[in-house]
Amino acid sequence: MQATAIAHPNIAFIKYWGDVDPDLHIPANGSISMNLRELYSRTNVSFDPSLHHDQFSLDGRHIDDDGLQRVNSILGRVRKMAGINTFASVESHNNFPTGAGIASSASGFAALSLAASKAAGLDLDEKALSRLARTGSGSACRSIPAGFVEWQAAGNDVDSYAFSIAPPEHWDLVDCIALVSQDEKPISSSVGHSLAKTSLLQPARVADAPRRLDICREAILHRDFNALADVVELDSNLMHAVMITSTPPMLYWQPATVTIMQAVESWRKVGLMVCYTVDAGPNVHVLCSREVSVEVADRLQKLSGVQKVLVAHPGGPVNLENE
Ligand code: DP6
Repeated sequence: MQATAIAHPNIAFIKYWGDVDPDLHIPANGSISMNLRELYSRTNVSFDPSLHHDQFSLDGRHIDDDGLQRVNSILGRVRKMAGINTFASVESHNNFPTGAGIASSASGFAALSLAASKAAGLDLDEKALSRLARTGSGSACRSIPAGFVEWQAAGNDVDSYAFSIAPPEHWDLVDCIALVSQDEKPISSSVGHSLAKTSLLQPARVADAPRRLDICREAILHRDFNALADVVELDSNLMHAVMITSTPPMLYWQPATVTIMQAVESWRKVGLMVCYTVDAGPNVHVLCSREVSVEVADRLQKLSGVQKVLVAHPGGPVNLENE
């Protein structure tokens, strides 16, 4: 009754921000992302009849707060589907900093969903796994399918899942992640999602989302970097505009975040295929073509305030270890 799964985090090109059902993580708008091959969460789940409650450790640290409750809720759903009542021990490791805007919850809950369902003897298809992962963390539903992924906007549990729009080998995009801080973020995404509706700008952002999704999807399908760059930066800035105009306001950027955004803009003006996007944290994801990725990573590393640059290529789906 044990299994280990590996899943990649994803970077959203069109962001999920704000939910219509916080418990089920049903988003206010659809989103599109790319899995990040070099980064991963590895999660082992073992159902053990000698346990009196579920246990969860992350990078060797015993967790018993909100993190355990979310894990517990996925395990509860799996137990219900499998018709068992055994408790489980969950051990998860990330090969990248947790909680710093690199969506460790996405890869973590994607890996947990596959490992837990396999360990319980279930054989869930991609759609069912994506829905299950979503109930742990919304963006986790996008770490189940491969490559470039869309999470469709649907106001209900059954239809809210993600699917691949192009495999990883479709486009040689590179994400150079400029780390500005590796601290845990001060305000969790879940709190942020619930506050989004307090911003006057959120209705306009959500109303325009289908248009941005169409542009982004087409840009990916046609490998049109310039179209992608414009819509990715617009979408990131719209989300941060909502964040800083919510009550209370949330400003995730640090001075170095802005330094990087401005540098990326100036590089694009002189012809480098590069654009930025920022999640709920200060780190900047700099997307570029493979031909310029070494130069871009090198330029980022030299900017003031950049601690480290991680480089990731389009990644595959969640997988069981040894498969
Ligand atoms: C800014 O999926 O982490 O990264 O559903 O509450 O766990 P919960 O939120 P989460 O939110 C992700 C927010 C984002 C944008 C995105 O990845 O789409």
